[in-house]
Amino acid sequence: MSDETHIKWHDHAVSRTDREQLAGHQGCVIWLTGLSGCGKSTIANLVDHQLAHRGVRSCVLDGDNIRHSLNASPAMLADAYGDGFARRFGLGFSADDRSENIRRISAVAQLFCSAGIVTITAFISPYRKDRDAARRLVESQGRPGDFIEIYVNAPLEVCESRDPKGLYRKARAGEIRQFTGIDDPYEAPLSPELELPAGNEPATQLAEHVVGYLIRSGTIPA
Ligand code: ADX
Repeated sequence: MSDETHIKWHDHAVSRTDREQLAGHQGCVIWLTGLSGCGKSTIANLVDHQLAHRGVRSCVLDGDNIRHSLNASPAMLADAYGDGFARRFGLGFSADDRSENIRRISAVAQLFCSAGIVTITAFISPYRKDRDAARRLVESQGRPGDFIEIYVNAPLEVCESRDPKGLYRKARAGEIRQFTGIDDPYEAPLSPELELPAGNEPATQLAEHVVGYLIRSGTIPA
């Protein structure tokens, strides 16, 4: 498709390397993927906390929170912006809406990464092609190794028995459609940088595995 927007990319005055030297560590995107209730948000917050203790600049982009703001639903947008706008830009859980959710998040994550921040994302991101596109975007604008895909692997039975938001129960009752793992697909990563046994180990220990990976990869100092 031709691009006739006449918009050019500008390099910023303070480079990524400048910011990383000031911070004493590198930026990256830690991409947590897994079923609803597998522990992504809990692990993301624990990693964020452990990094803060080490003086590392980090931030969390979390599914439920981002779906209240950047990726709000049509219903959330309708009052302020009108129905047509809400239908066009609001996001639900169809395959296309999930793709757009991940596309916007990956663009934001890339910006944080390029500012030298360890950016931790916690989205189901059920489709391989969307996660691969996120990796391509982050690494093509940054460096190979910037995108760290982490599979938070808890079996469906475990997630469903936890059911922290009561959504699995609603999905089984047919009150929510297209619920990941019930009547919508989840495509597990084929070669993630890290896989966390989230059905077996406590979240604090899982978060330590993530911090350990960042040390081994040279992203943050030991
Ligand atoms: S994603 O599939 O597009 O990556 P995302 O991580 O943003 O999903 O949002 C998932 C959260 O939305 C779940 O943790 C759950 O709280 C809520 N949710 C509501 N409806 C659905 C649904 N149909 N499938 C999965 N999660 C849903």
